[in-house]
Order: sequence, then C-alpha cells, then structure tokens
Amino acid sequence: MKEYLPNCIRNLIVELDHQNHIDNNLVSEIISEIKFSEEALKPFFHFDHPKNESYGRKLIWDNGDFKILLMTWHPGDFTAIHNHGYTEWGGVYFFGDATHRLYDVENDEISIVQKNVFPQGQVASICGDLTHLMGNSGDHDIITLHVYGSNTRKENVSEDAKIYMPEFQKIVTTMGSAYLNMDKALILSEKPFENIEHGVLADYFSLVKPFYERNKMAGVLKRMDNYLNHN
Ligand SMILES: [Fe+2]
Repeated sequence: MKEYLPNCIRNLIVELDHQNHIDNNLVSEIISEIKFSEEALKPFFHFDHPKNESYGRKLIWDNGDFKILLMTWHPGDFTAIHNHGYTEWGGVYFFGDATHRLYDVENDEISIVQKNVFPQGQVASICGDLTHLMGNSGDHDIITLHVYGSNTRKENVSEDAKIYMPEFQKIVTTMGSAYLNMDKALILSEKPFENIEHGVLADYFSLVKPFYERNKMAGVLKRMDNYLNHN
C-alpha cells in the first residue's frame, strides 16, 4: 500500500479489502470504528479549489471496486442535487456540521424527504439511488470523508451519477462529480429537467445562491428568480 497514506486511511482500506461482501451496515460499522485524524488528512485538503467548482473534491484512493475521497467545504460550498450512479454501498464521515437534503425521485420528479444537519462524528450511508444535496451553511470550513464501493463492478463505481440542475432545467450524468454549474467536460449525457415543484426550487435556490453570487453569475441568479416566480 502507498506509503504516503495516513494510518487512518490505510486502516480503512485494509478493513474494506478484507471483506468478501460489503453492505451499508458493514461499511458504517467499519467507518465508525476508525479514529480519523483531521490533521493527518491535511495533504488531501482542497480548500483552494477553483471558484467555479462548488466544493473541494480530492481522490485519496481508488481500488477499482471502491474509492475514497476527501471533500472540503468553505462556508457556502454546496453540491448540486445528485445520486451516486453504480455505487452499491458507501458512507460519509462528517468532521463538522454539514447541511443536508434528502430527496425522493419518481420519474424525475423530486420531493424533499428530509432537511437536516449532520453533526460532527456522524456516519451517513450512501448508495447509488440515494438522491441528496450537501454543503456548508456554517461560518467555518469543514471536511467530509466519502467511501463509494461496489460488490460487482471492478472500476468507476460512481459512474452514471445523475445530477439535477434546476437552474439550467437539465439533468446530466457524470463519473461522480456533483458540482453546481457543472463543467461541460465532466458531463457524460444530458436531458431536459422540467416539472420541478415550487417548494423544492425555493429551498434549493436559497442554498445554492451564495455560489452564484460569489461567482458573480448575475444571469443565472436572474433566471433562478424568474423561474421561481413562474413555477
Ligand atoms: Fe453524494
């Protein structure tokens, strides 16, 4: 195993490698038992991410059948609404309080199931069809550690992640990135996104507005307002 990896990440990889079959209960148990060190993860911080990327995303390890990423969140950093493609099992460890929305999706129509804040120390489960959004509504930087895996695929476990972009009336797929205002180079496919419920829109726009404000994207902000007023 790579020498440069901190002990907590090596322990996580060894534990996951030892299992024949992993489900979300097992991965949560494994993540919960490891003592993660924020200090040791500093080499993977990506707080200097480009302004047009809506959060910091750094790959730590990709084994083929699972991968580990560190996400870094300035105040106002958010993902788009997204799912996790082919991911069959996974988990997130929260080093700080993160804002979270859980959605239900039926025929590309979205409704909010849960609005909450995941506290520091919490482990949350992730699988492919889980549709959510997360970010930092607080006033200081936070980090989260993410594991995505599969019992059947040997590569690209989070490929075919679906990203919902109400402000552009589009649904796109990616290899796993869930940035707001997704760069075209990361998009695998796209289709129209219509029929968005007013309450979902209002909540979503209130969360992602700081991203568009800091990028001075007045056109998108205006479109969001117009769209909200006509839906
Ligand atoms: Fe996610």
